[in-house]
This record gives sequence, structure tokens and C-alpha cells, in this order.
Amino acid sequence: MELNLNNIKLKSTGLPEQFPNDTLPQIAFSGRSNVGKSSLINCLIGRKSLARVSSAPGKTITVNFYETDGKIYIVDLPGYGYAKRSAEDQKQWSSLVDKYITETDNLRLVVQLVDMKVGPTKDDNMMLDWLTSSGVPFIVAATKSDKLNKTEYNSMMGALRGHPLIPESVPVIPFSALKGEGKSLIWREINRCLDK
Ligand code: GTP
Ligand code: MG
Repeated sequence: MELNLNNIKLKSTGLPEQFPNDTLPQIAFSGRSNVGKSSLINCLIGRKSLARVSSAPGKTITVNFYETDGKIYIVDLPGYGYAKRSAEDQKQWSSLVDKYITETDNLRLVVQLVDMKVGPTKDDNMMLDWLTSSGVPFIVAATKSDKLNKTEYNSMMGALRGHPLIPESVPVIPFSALKGEGKSLIWREINRCLDK
């Protein structure tokens, strides 16, 4: 079942003390810059331009909370892997994401995005390792699946499925914002976590 998301409120903050502290369940989306995070969020909630789809990676390090119909938060975590990010910005990013993941009691699921054409990067591996050790439930969405031919597709799915940092119990879902592939499977995983 997909939520009927008519009423969406955005709260954007770079300060952990301003993270929402109500009881609504939170579903967070994480991935490197340009992985297709905004496109995936827009596709899931059926809006064309709610989460900004950018051609130039943004610099501000914020967590975006989309409160949807007063039912859940869709949480857009700041992207990683910017080549030009300073050491100080990098530190701010880690501290913000770490605080979010470890201190959000109502975090039900992290959807970790990996570019299916590029495959898992070093930063993705660090994130996967981090998620596993934090114990938070997560799934992997392999984005931009429409860019691969059948051979590449099968080979990347095999590589992700056999990835040492992706436990067998973690679903790996090929996803295309262009074609809609994987949308209902991701919703199914989200609903499964909300029902618990
Ligand atoms: P930042 O917020 O800048 O870090 O990027 P992001 O992860 O939010 O990615 P975004 O959704 O802005 O997409 C980045 C680029 O990838 C854009 O040019 C999108 O059009 C393209 N893109 C996103 N999803 C898909 C997809 O499913 N298929 C294809 N072919 N391109 C995609
Ligand atoms: Mg984005």
C-alpha cells in the first residue's frame, strides 16, 4: 500500500538539536552525490519536484525531513563523495549523519542507494559498513537500472547480492526513476517496517 501523500511539510536543518523529536516513524535515504536520491524520493511519493533534482551537487550539509500527511518522515540525508568537500565539511557530514542514525529512536529503515551503473564506491562501502555496525534496518536500492543492458544488469545484481558488506537478509532492489522499476518493492519494504 502506498501512502496518499497530499500534505507534505519540509523541515531542513544542519543542526542535530533541531531534528524532529515527535513519535512519527522515519524512513531515511542515503547515498553518494548524484546517485539519484532526489529522483527516487520524488518517484516514491509521486511528486515531480519535491526533492530537488540537481545537475550541480549542492554544498549545504543538511538533513531534509519531509513530513508526509502527518504519518511519516521521509528523510533525505546529505549526500557524500563530493571530491571538493573540505576536511572540515567532511567532519560535519560524518557527525551529522552519525548523530541522525544513532540518535533517532523512530528510525525504522534506511534505504541505501548504490548507483547500479557505477557499482559500490569506497564511500558506499564505508556507509554499508557503518549501517551494518549501527544495527539499523536497511535495504539497498540499486539506482538507474535502466542504464544497464541485460548482461550488465545481471552481473551487477550478482555482485551486489554477493557483496561482503550486504548481509543476505538485506533486500537489494533494482530501481529506475525513469521506468518506475522497483518502486512497489521499495514501498513494500517501507510498509513492512512501519507495520512492526
Ligand atoms: P545530489 O542531490 O546532487 O547529490 O544528487 P541526487 O543523488 O539527489 O541525484 P538526482 O536525483 O538529482 O539525479 C542525479 C542525476 O541522475 C540527474 O541527472 C538525474 O536525471 C539522473 N537520474 C536519476 N535517477 C535516474 C534513473 O533512474 N535513471 C537514469 N537514467 N537517470 C537517473
Ligand atoms: Mg538530491
